[in-house]
Amino acid sequence: MMNDNLLTRSFSKHERKKLGYGALAACLLITLSFFIVFNPYLGPLPLLNFMLSTGDDQKLFAVNDTSSSLQMDKEIITINDASSSQEAVARDAEMVRNEKKLINDTGSSRQTINEIVIKDSLIVNDTSSSQQIATDADAATMNEKIELRCNIMGRSEFCEIKGDIRIYGNSSTAFIVSSETDILTAENTSWSIRPYARKEALGEKDFARKWSVKLVTDRPDIPRCTRNHSVPAILFSVGGYSGNFFHAFTDIIVPLYSTAQPFNREVQFLITNRKSSWIAKFKTLLEALSRYEIIDIDDRHDMHCFQSLTIGLKGRNNKELSIDSSTSPYSMKDFTQFLRRWYSLKKITAAKIRDGDKRKPRLLIISRKRSRAFTNVGEIAELAESLSYQVIVAEPGPDVSGFAKIINSCDVVMGVHGAGLTNIVFLPENAILIQVVPFGRVEWASRVSFEDPAKDMNIRYLDYKIKVEESTLIQQYPADHVVLRDPSVIGKQGWLAFRSIYLDKQNVTLDVNRFRPTLVKALELLHQ
Ligand SMILES: *[C@@H]1O[C@H](CO)[C@@H](O)[C@H](O)[C@H]1NC(C)=O
Ligand SMILES: *[C@@H]1O[C@H](CO)[C@@H](O)[C@H](O)[C@H]1NC(C)=O
Ligand SMILES: *[C@@H]1O[C@H](CO)[C@@H](O)[C@H](O)[C@H]1NC(C)=O
Ligand SMILES: *[C@@H]1O[C@H](CO)[C@@H](O)[C@H](O)[C@H]1NC(C)=O
Ligand SMILES: *[C@@H]1O[C@H](CO)[C@@H](O)[C@H](O)[C@H]1NC(C)=O
Ligand SMILES: *[C@@H]1O[C@H](CO)[C@@H](O)[C@H](O)[C@H]1NC(C)=O
Ligand SMILES: *[C@@H]1O[C@H](CO)[C@@H](O)[C@H](O)[C@H]1NC(C)=O
Repeated sequence: MMNDNLLTRSFSKHERKKLGYGALAACLLITLSFFIVFNPYLGPLPLLNFMLSTGDDQKLFAVNDTSSSLQMDKEIITINDASSSQEAVARDAEMVRNEKKLINDTGSSRQTINEIVIKDSLIVNDTSSSQQIATDADAATMNEKIELRCNIMGRSEFCEIKGDIRIYGNSSTAFIVSSETDILTAENTSWSIRPYARKEALGEKDFARKWSVKLVTDRPDIPRCTRNHSVPAILFSVGGYSGNFFHAFTDIIVPLYSTAQPFNREVQFLITNRKSSWIAKFKTLLEALSRYEIIDIDDRHDMHCFQSLTIGLKGRNNKELSIDSSTSPYSMKDFTQFLRRWYSLKKITAAKIRDGDKRKPRLLIISRKRSRAFTNVGEIAELAESLSYQVIVAEPGPDVSGFAKIINSCDVVMGVHGAGLTNIVFLPENAILIQVVPFGRVEWASRVSFEDPAKDMNIRYLDYKIKVEESTLIQQYPADHVVLRDPSVIGKQGWLAFRSIYLDKQNVTLDVNRFRPTLVKALELLHQ
């Protein structure tokens, strides 16, 4: 079930490079935002300002034509990034206000069309700076419009859609139905999206189901709604690496929190790549975010209809286990607070120990069974007790809530790098994580998966990098073997070779004398 192989998968050298690009791309604000307004009152309108910024990844979009040949009964307004000046934005806002539209895609010769009532908002460039220029949108016209905003944000692709949305599970399709024919619907414009927030892994076979979003005209062959939902929907995949506890949080639960929390539980979850054990495991969390029973949408022959759909998850940036507060109203601290509330976790902050205190700080040793296991956990516990810790040894299992209570009762937690450390999300604030870093250049993965995230959660961090003598690899390889001499050589042989040795074949025998100062340091921190 817990497959740690997957955990560090994403940190292979190759992918590390990609991550680097990802970060760069994020800086460049690669978001593609566009906005489509169907206006029911109008005759044909030419295209206005159709501009797509060139991000590093546009495969999401099938809407490809910016040519002047697009004389059509629909307008597409894209106010975007570099190419669109503040003036342009202001001008468009002004046009909206005047209920008149000056239209020409080059902006040079202007056609004035009267009687255009655009009661809507314009989306301005990136999500991080997107301002909705509010206008007098009213509910009556809302139904007749389609709003579509697709983004590539960090490591996720997602679309936010408003309109007549019909979801047909059997063909993994979300239809956006327009009452009128226009060029995009006439050409059956569609594009695909994989609603799993780890972009660099999406190419893998059977990773996450591919969904189509299709703009269509309301024709007799478009199936009718068999169920009309009054609440918005979020469609996301629980496939991919979700079986790994770390990935469950970093790829799904944290971005799901960012996406769903604004709806205050009034949102319908549609799950693709069903995995009932996953849903059972995270039931408490899913219920905390939606009060409606989850719909397993794959392979269904009925038509679920919504007026609002988010397909894919928002808020996934390039950091692991993280929420970027510059693009989200939430932070990781909000997230951990939310977890404590829903799992009824009592301890908000770690114990502050004073001299002469009778209370003992509680230390949890997270154990592992198959690999990266401590071989001398008894000895470690003895050491900790001699330093006045109250010691608990536990291994996370399928009972998330039970383990959450155990870890939340502690002040210090230690464990070898691995998915189990993800449980730090349940720690009280100011608690301390001691990450034991195994032999073999696992430093980078250790930092991005737990050290950096711990800081965002207000968890204090210490680590202990083992020496080769503390690794059981020395029992499997002669002292001068390349595995022990130079892990980077194995790294060059590829990720699988690397993983199969340093992550899968290594146990850890802590040198308690060498480790002692780390536990002492944690005690000192608890006194501060
Ligand atoms: C744009 O779409 C048309 C029709 O769908 C297709 O024939 C054409 O090759 C596309 N152009 C680009 C640049 O993708
Ligand atoms: C997005 O808009 C803001 C404010 O209008 C502007 O400062 C910024 O440069 C724009 N982003 C890009 C990528 O052009
Ligand atoms: C926009 O103006 C240019 C230059 O005057 C003209 O050639 C073009 O046909 C106009 N386009 C539209 C859509 O009106
Ligand atoms: C459902 O999907 C299957 C497999 O893709 C396909 O053979 C079948 O025709 C679909 N049924 C309907 C009613 O669309
Ligand atoms: C779009 O789909 C409809 C229904 O399948 C079909 O009649 C029509 O020819 C298609 N249009 C194009 C341009 O492919
Ligand atoms: C859903 O809503 C549409 C449009 O209002 C209506 O035509 C249809 O009958 C409704 N379907 C169901 C099953 O209620
Ligand atoms: C590591 O420890 C576990 C649990 O004791 C054991 O099953 C496994 O075989 C050990 N692996 C190695 C490579 O020693």
